[in-house]
Amino acid sequence: MKILVVGSGGREHALVWKIAQSKKADKIYCAPGNAGISELAECVDIKATDLTALADFAEEKKIDLTVVGMDDPLVAGIVDIFEERGLRVFGPRKNAAILEGSKVFSKGLMKKYGIPTADYETFDKPEDALKYLETAKYPLVLKADGLALGKGVLICNTKEEAIAGVKELMTDKAFGNAGDKIVAEEFLIGKEASVLSFVDGKTVKLMASARDYKRAKDNDEGLNTGGMGNVSPNPFYTAEIDEICKKEVYQKTVDAMAAEGREFKGCIFFGLMLTKDGPKVLEFNARFGDPETQVVLPRMENDIIDVFEACIDGELDKVDLKFKDDAAVCVILASNGYPEKYEKGKEIKGLENFKGKDGFWCFHAGTKKVDGKTVTNGGRVLGITALGKTPEEARQNAYKATELVEFENKYMRHDIGRTDR
Ligand code: AMP
Ligand code: GLY
Repeated sequence: MKILVVGSGGREHALVWKIAQSKKADKIYCAPGNAGISELAECVDIKATDLTALADFAEEKKIDLTVVGMDDPLVAGIVDIFEERGLRVFGPRKNAAILEGSKVFSKGLMKKYGIPTADYETFDKPEDALKYLETAKYPLVLKADGLALGKGVLICNTKEEAIAGVKELMTDKAFGNAGDKIVAEEFLIGKEASVLSFVDGKTVKLMASARDYKRAKDNDEGLNTGGMGNVSPNPFYTAEIDEICKKEVYQKTVDAMAAEGREFKGCIFFGLMLTKDGPKVLEFNARFGDPETQVVLPRMENDIIDVFEACIDGELDKVDLKFKDDAAVCVILASNGYPEKYEKGKEIKGLENFKGKDGFWCFHAGTKKVDGKTVTNGGRVLGITALGKTPEEARQNAYKATELVEFENKYMRHDIGRTDR
């Protein structure tokens, strides 16, 4: 089969790596890809958001299966465009990708179908939101309705911060139309868990749980980022919590989408807060997580193309999804200064230390090739993943492997996967 993967981050490198192990994969393309991906796939210079050019390419090359990693093309309707042209593609249609694309929609869905989530109000006029802030409880969380590169969530400790937040999102339009509507929700306290799943419209099968480390600095200090590392399994996601979520969250969400005429096929990423009152949904994503994918796929035993096809064909119930008992830890090597200002174009040395090795990997996020050299090309540069018999062993293996690569301004957190916090 000829496969096309859409995207350019660590998530897409992990997807391409896993697809490359499939017996069914003869040739892999990635648009636009990065330096690491180019070792396994032919990278094509088409932006992930140029949907027509991607469909033209898939038609011309007779691509058998396209896998979309990123949220923007999904929310913009890439799956509908491909399907109209008779091209097979893994991911939700536009009317289902709204599960991630609109927080007002997803909160309304959870309310209607009794899926546990934080209490909330929605607003489409700043004056109404400001009036609400007068009597609201703090801390309060404000969320832009639409996609905002993961930055549209503001945790406001005081009324003054919330007033500034409403101005930023709705009046100044810091995230454009994404802030036309906002959600104001209750601040939840607890540990977070990321649970990715495969969905075929009716059946949902869960991948191994993960814990994301979103803040830039050790001890969860510093700014929110796309994710500075992950551990799988998530130590706080117990069998008891899994039972509750199976009853209250996963199947209910898939059934709710089907009942709304928005059948979801693809990957649903459940972002959960494990509160003292039970697990609650913080957000849904309509795609794989990054870096979650970099810890979950190295543990997965199935041929991933079989699973993608089962989702498309509505036959996921026939798949026995299996994960290794080994734990996995991914430590992100970032450019110092991320997520604010950072330099690019620094040469990366030592990448050959990962060639042909098993049990630890270097997934590329922001890299590119210049004159035969691999250089940094983003805030998150590399994801170093390692397996271990226990989370602690995986953690030690991953940190040991971070020493194998060097670049100027290399930055990482040192507490990813710590079991004592
Ligand atoms: P989201 O994009 O909705 O997952 O929000 C990004 C991050 O903001 C989450 O991973 C949490 O760390 C935090 N967050 C979002 N909603 C809440 C909430 N209601 N209470 C506490 N923290 C939240
Ligand atoms: N790591 C969080 C996300 O992919 O949204």
